[in-house]
Amino acid sequence: MKDSERNFATNAPDDSGSWARDGKNASLWNTNTEPAGAGGSFSDYTIYDTLIVGAGITGLTTALILQKAGKRCIVADAHHAGYGTTGGTTAHINTFADTTYAEVEKAFSREAALQFAQGIAEAVSAIAHYVKTYDINCDFEWLDGYVYAETENEEKELDDLYQSAVRAGVQAEPTTAVPTPVHYRKAVVFANQAQFHPLKYILALQKEFVASGGVVLENTRIGELHSTDDYHIARVGEKEIKASEVVYATHIPPGINVLHFRNAPYRSYVIAATLKDNAYPKGLVYDMQDPYHYFRSHTIDGKQYLIAGGHDHKTGHGDPEQAFADLVGYTREYYDIDEIAAQWSAQYYVPADGLPYIGELPGAPKGIYTATGYNGNGMMLGTLSALIISDLILSGKSTYQKLFDPGRIKPIAGFTEFVKENADVVKHFVGDRFGIDEVASLADMPVDSGSIVEYKGDKLAVYKDPAGGVHALSPVCTHAKCIVQWNNTEKSWDCPCHGARYDCHGNVLTGPARDNLTPYA
Ligand code: FES
Repeated sequence: MKDSERNFATNAPDDSGSWARDGKNASLWNTNTEPAGAGGSFSDYTIYDTLIVGAGITGLTTALILQKAGKRCIVADAHHAGYGTTGGTTAHINTFADTTYAEVEKAFSREAALQFAQGIAEAVSAIAHYVKTYDINCDFEWLDGYVYAETENEEKELDDLYQSAVRAGVQAEPTTAVPTPVHYRKAVVFANQAQFHPLKYILALQKEFVASGGVVLENTRIGELHSTDDYHIARVGEKEIKASEVVYATHIPPGINVLHFRNAPYRSYVIAATLKDNAYPKGLVYDMQDPYHYFRSHTIDGKQYLIAGGHDHKTGHGDPEQAFADLVGYTREYYDIDEIAAQWSAQYYVPADGLPYIGELPGAPKGIYTATGYNGNGMMLGTLSALIISDLILSGKSTYQKLFDPGRIKPIAGFTEFVKENADVVKHFVGDRFGIDEVASLADMPVDSGSIVEYKGDKLAVYKDPAGGVHALSPVCTHAKCIVQWNNTEKSWDCPCHGARYDCHGNVLTGPARDNLTPYA
């Protein structure tokens, strides 16, 4: 191997310590998988065709498609494959999305809803195709998906959801056979939904990508890009990665970008539990509460688990411990839980107008792409993003280019409370006093916890470790200067503005921030 050929696996320390994902809690998927490790040979003499930043479902699917099409690709992840939201998803594969077809019709048009449904269907088929083609052992299973209404208002919403799905060409019909112990008034079943083990799936994509000549770099955080007329240069320490195109598959693009103001970060909570009576649901089940609950089951190493999720709230708001308690309490009402084997939370981004942003990064030089705003539907929309971005790179066009254009300016009145969301962001800039604890003495703080406190007129993010050692950081998020909040369930500092997250020592867990919190002397 030439001096200039190396991989970066050991060149940059993994600032996550031993955490396998972007939080303290291991997900169910972490229990029987290991990262695949770096692969391929990196050369800084090479000008790669495409640098893909981020090794989640979006990045690895994009990389594999492009590499198979003859492009020379390199994937760089700040940690390792599946470290981010792909490692914390509940891996539902649906023909409908959290943004309903009725909402898309209202905010865009009936044609847009049809196209959205077509894109989702293509993504579902693509996942099934890769599982088959690459013989991926990832517990992929076709199942029915059920949505049920418990109140009169929910019935009306369900009617809307059902009728708009049918208008969009999605196979759905009324049912009275929902596999749930919850008493419901009305329900709809969607055929040909699916589930899988998300980490087994993406690790197989990564293996296939490397076998096809692709390069994967772990522990490689990509900083600012420098663009010339011919290619983009990413600096990694002393080294440079050069590529004609760059794809930010980082959940939300790093740096400061207009997309940060068009997506709101949310946390979602999940438990995996064994049941005393084996009454595991056969299917994917969703209620219509706000926020809603969802249930499915999964067998790992011969043991079946109920996976229950919900109680979402905006990142850096709400109380993560309470959210877990509420989720456990709600699940116990209907299921005879024997043991809670895992509990974890994950992040997703709610887009301003309900549709994801997929395509060229607004305000960036030519040849830089991104995908974000999946609204909790990352398995389908991450895969769809890979299809769209690879089409854009390979042929310069995509059927979905206009609908998901990240540069679109869409009136936001039609969807969610986005105006409120943005007002909320403004509230959390440096001057804000939200969440400052009146801690009389640091001795009062419980160990292994954090708090924003005021000390001699300065705000500090203080973490007290299990041995009682106190670590003080500036609480000012290095992205755009909002004040972070302590998340006691994931032992992380979470930014309420655009969702950057840091571990208890201030190291970046997830973007858009690139730099760690500043230690307080
Ligand atoms: Fe933007 Fe923190 S993520 S200010």
